Amino acid sequence: MEFLISEGYDGMSRSAADVVKSVIVDDPSCVLGLATGSTPIGMYACLVKDCKEGEVSFKDVTTFNLDEYVGLPGEHDQSYRYFMDTNLFDHVDIDKARTNLPDGCAGNLEQMCAEYEQKIQDAGGIDIQVLGIGHNGHIGFNEPCDDFPVATHPVDLTESTINANSRLFSDVSEVPRSAVTMGIGTIMKARKVIVLANGDGKADIVKAAFTGPVVPSVPASVLQLHPDVTIVLDSAAASKLDI
Ligand code: F6R
Repeated sequence: MEFLISEGYDGMSRSAADVVKSVIVDDPSCVLGLATGSTPIGMYACLVKDCKEGEVSFKDVTTFNLDEYVGLPGEHDQSYRYFMDTNLFDHVDIDKARTNLPDGCAGNLEQMCAEYEQKIQDAGGIDIQVLGIGHNGHIGFNEPCDDFPVATHPVDLTESTINANSRLFSDVSEVPRSAVTMGIGTIMKARKVIVLANGDGKADIVKAAFTGPVVPSVPASVLQLHPDVTIVLDSAAASKLDI
């Protein structure tokens, strides 16, 4: 497990973008696993800038996102499809047909999840998975629980996640109560993983997840068992680590 610690949000974003960019430059037809949330917005902005400046091309890149709310169509401004379009896909030379998110509006969610898993496999697996981390250690929408969920699956959101995400909706009652997420097994199969975290509000969970015991009550802790993980932090999020 490697730690990259930078000054501030901009430093963390640049550093994370450089890791992703080098994967794309090494293999222009690579498969990216992507995350939404506040944390990676700056990283996507750096990648957009790099693409506009001709340093990287997404022309042959395929993407799979971690998760999506159930019941929000792609045009909804809080759907993760909308987030990805507005923060990355609309501003780079990617072929949108190669961009994949779980379909939270599918009639049969279980079947959609199985097909999503299969599609990742058919694409050759994920070369690099980008993750943020929740204050309770969740990755994707894999919340603290008794077992690590294996594959892409529907989930009921916890009150803490609904409340945390309500900042982006006009009222907490509008936050979807369920979502679809890659499983911990899906994430662990990625050949490389980077986790981004910034701000002192993430310092405790960063310490617990990456230096504490590997337990399903802190889902991100499982990443300690992955052979190629880079944790990209600003100094505030790293402030409780003894490294
Ligand atoms: C996003 C996701 C979530 C977020 C996490 C951190 O696709 O799956 O696990 O990465 O909730 O969110 P932020 O970055 O908003 O603190």
